[in-house]
Amino acid sequence: MFNFLKKKNNTPKLPYTTEVHCHVLPGIDDGSPDVEHSLALIHQMKEWGLERIIATPHVTEASFENTPQTIGSAYSRLCQETNLDELGIKLCYSAEYRMDDNFLGILQREEIIPMPGNHILIENSFLQPFWNIKSLVFDLQIKGLSPILAHPERYAYYYDDKKIYKELHEQGCEFQVNLLSLAGYYNKRAKEVAEWLISKQMVDYLGSDLHNSSHVLHINKYLSGKEYPKHMRNIHIKNNHL
Ligand SMILES: [Fe+2]
Repeated sequence: MFNFLKKKNNTPKLPYTTEVHCHVLPGIDDGSPDVEHSLALIHQMKEWGLERIIATPHVTEASFENTPQTIGSAYSRLCQETNLDELGIKLCYSAEYRMDDNFLGILQREEIIPMPGNHILIENSFLQPFWNIKSLVFDLQIKGLSPILAHPERYAYYYDDKKIYKELHEQGCEFQVNLLSLAGYYNKRAKEVAEWLISKQMVDYLGSDLHNSSHVLHINKYLSGKEYPKHMRNIHIKNNHL
């Protein structure tokens, strides 16, 4: 099950030590199902050179309606049953908030779990964009939150008219691109748009969006390949400042 842990020699390092997007809290979304898997993923992240991990479980209407209580208790369970200090990993949590009606309710009730520095990781549905994303970004900013759009390169409905990327970024919405997109894991277009975002200097954060051991294998392959250093040549990310 955890074969990927055996390959520890010469694991290439990530270009950051703070992970801002991953699903390593046990049993509350489609990421790690239990503490054992969580620990295996965190061990791998340590091999990639990570020192600090911000866990971002899904908060999505109808599928993963996590709350500060469900997320907090998964975090406590993981901390109690492991020794992350000994491993040299600092773990904290926020969430990956899907922009939907559930999220609007959370905002209204002021139940947001912010990232350090009052950042907040938001995502669109993959089927359609949030109906008024620019207005929502503005509302978040008024509340003192700094939105980071998760994997902007994965929203296919933005591909044909890319001006929305520029508009959002100029509005102060930062972008977090997935390593898995650069690896070509999802599809060719997502990779191309991730590369385009790099070329336009619009990548503020990189993230693993790590859910499982298949993701680990694909990221390892990417880190060992020729494209990784080329992609990283012109990128200026802020992960370690978060
Ligand atoms: Fe995610």
